[in-house]
This record gives sequence, C-alpha cells and structure tokens, in this order.
Amino acid sequence: MSKISAAITAVGGYVPEYVLTNQILETMVDTNDEWITTRTGIKERRILKEDGKGTSFLAIKAAQDLINKKGLDPEDIELVIVATATPDMKAASTAAFTASEIGATNAFTFDMDAACSSFLYGMSVAASYIESGKYKKVLLIGADKMSSLINYKDRATCIIFGDGGGAVLFEPNQEGLGLQDEYLRSDGTGREFLQATYGGSVHPITHEAIDQGGQYAFQEGRTVFKNAVFNMADATMKVMERNNLTKEDVAWLTAHQANKRIIDATADRMGLEHEKVMMNIHKYGNTTSATLPLLLHDYESQLKKGDNIIFAAFGGGFNWGAIYLKWAYNSDN
Ligand code: UT7
Repeated sequence: MSKISAAITAVGGYVPEYVLTNQILETMVDTNDEWITTRTGIKERRILKEDGKGTSFLAIKAAQDLINKKGLDPEDIELVIVATATPDMKAASTAAFTASEIGATNAFTFDMDAACSSFLYGMSVAASYIESGKYKKVLLIGADKMSSLINYKDRATCIIFGDGGGAVLFEPNQEGLGLQDEYLRSDGTGREFLQATYGGSVHPITHEAIDQGGQYAFQEGRTVFKNAVFNMADATMKVMERNNLTKEDVAWLTAHQANKRIIDATADRMGLEHEKVMMNIHKYGNTTSATLPLLLHDYESQLKKGDNIIFAAFGGGFNWGAIYLKWAYNSDN
C-alpha cells in the first residue's frame, strides 16, 4: 500500500462586513493613506463590530462555508483545531464551542496559538494526525478577531491588523499529493518585540494596566520586520533546496500577510514572478491566523491538482517556517 499523505480537500473563508479604510484611519490617528499604502500595501481591513461576537463567530462562519461547499456531513469530522491568537475566552476552548455550533458532535477539539504562525504550525499538526492513519477528516480553522487586541490610538499597530477566518479540511491521499515537507522554527528571545503584555499569567490584568493600555498588542515594528524578512526567506529557500525545487517548479507562494514588503522580499529571494504570489493584504490587512486559509479561499478557483505551493509565515514568539504542499484538486468554481 502506498504511503498516506495529508491533502487539503476543501477550503472556506469569512470576513466581517465592516470595512475600515485608510481614509477612516486618517480621522482616528496621525497617519495617511499614502504612508500606509507604500509602507505596508494595506488599503482596508475588515472589523467584527457586533458586541458579544468573538473569534468563534469568524471560525464558525468559515467552517460553515467549507461544509456547504464540500457537502460535508459535520458529524464525520473527527478533529477540529482552531488556530488563533485571540481565543474567545481564557480556559474555555474556542474550538470546542466552534465544533458544537457547526454540528461536529463526534470530534475532539483544541486551540493552538503560535501567533501569526498558528495556522502554519496547525497544518503540520493536522497533517500528522492524517499521516499516522489515526484520523481521516481533520478540520483546521485559522481565525482571529485582532481588533479585540488593538489600541485604535496606536498608529504602529491599528493600521495593520484586521479580523477574519478561514478553514481547510485535511484528508488522506494516496497519490502523493498534500503536505510534502516542512521547516518550522521558534526563538523565544523575540517575545519582547511583539506581545500583549497584560492578561496572561505573568501579568494578570489590573486597573493600572488597563489605564496604561497594557492589554493591547504592542510591537517594535522595525525589529519584527527585519526578522520576518530574513527568516521567511530563509525557511522558504531551505524547503525549496532540500526538495530540489526551482522557481519554475513553484506554482504559488502563499505567505503570511503582515506587510507587502516582507512578502515581496520573500518572493524576490525565491526568484518568483509576482503573478505567482497570492496577495490579499490590500483588502484584509494582517488577519494573523486567518491569512493563509483566506488566501487559499480567494485563489481556490485558480489552483490546479498537482500545483506546488510554498506556504510561509513569521510572527510573535518569534515563530516562523515554511511548508511545501502539492495541491490535490481542481476547483469547479
Ligand atoms: O504579523 C506579525 C508580524 N508583524 C510584522 O511582520 C510587522 C513588521 N513590521 C512592519 O510591517 C513595519 O515595521 C511597520 C509597518 C509596522 C512600520 O513600518 P516601518 O517602515 O518599519 O516604519 P518605522 O516604524 O521605522 O517608522 C518610520 C517613520 C517614523 O517616523 P520618523 O521617526 O522617521 O519621523 C514613524 O514615527 O514612520 C512613522 N510612522 C508612521 N507615520 C504615519 C509609524 N507609523 C506610522 C503611521 N503613519 N501609521
């Protein structure tokens, strides 16, 4: 019997309706459309405005989109992983709630957090369960309500992030399609440069912390930028080299959408034409765990069975890496 590989067999996505444009941000902080566009490539982002709705709302919508498109019976799903840096609540799992709401009543569930690399690492975890032969239907969702972590008075962060969710189904494949290789790394000395300091176990939330905005995400953009450019390109090149992939062999780069300049630098290092680079940062900004599945959702109709796709991400932690995957189906959209 040929080896079991883990293939993506369906994709879903969701972004909230409210559009936060650069022009609106100009009225909120000292910034301008020209600066944001040239420094980041972002024109607008989506924000989940409704009270009482969190990351699970985005995750449920993305999963339901996948379930409807695939005609999947949710009771057949065996595992639901929600990759997120903004879980609904402390302690109560976002994945458990999401699974119940979509009718995945036979699944076990857990959340995974590796900041902006959550979905990338989630692909490795989901694929391992399939490759082991233990499970046949693993739903991996990447969703983040980043607006819940953002101080809309801090121009260094509020221009970048947006809300969204995306989902993929992993199933066994015996044609050699699906996940081929991965290079994943972490460096905890980077955590001082990108974090939401208060609200965790080191610094529980206090009145004083809230008065200083300590519950919001903070980043030292320049340091994060430099590390992202180096490490995303390095991981991508390692995966290409050890699989003997030339730039002609690569159909698509599916890279984390934090800054267009970081994505361009990675593509340039690979020698890849920009038509092969998936891009949605202009309309969604950085949706953290949702960026990779939302790209697949947006580009699904252009993907062909056998396409070699390189995924890459970098984020808080620091956590980063690259994954090489062969696409497993032609879309009928
Ligand atoms: O997904 C998680 C990982 N996150 C990332 O990968 C983010 C990586 N970092 C970045 O994308 C970029 O560093 C930023 C977009 C956050 C900032 O861009 P930059 O080119 O690194 O700008 P900078 O922080 O070096 O600031 C340059 C100038 C400064 O002014 P002076 O000191 O040169 O006068 C800033 O005060 O731009 C100013 N500035 C702004 N101006 C208008 C910073 N933010 C803004 C703003 N609007 N929003």
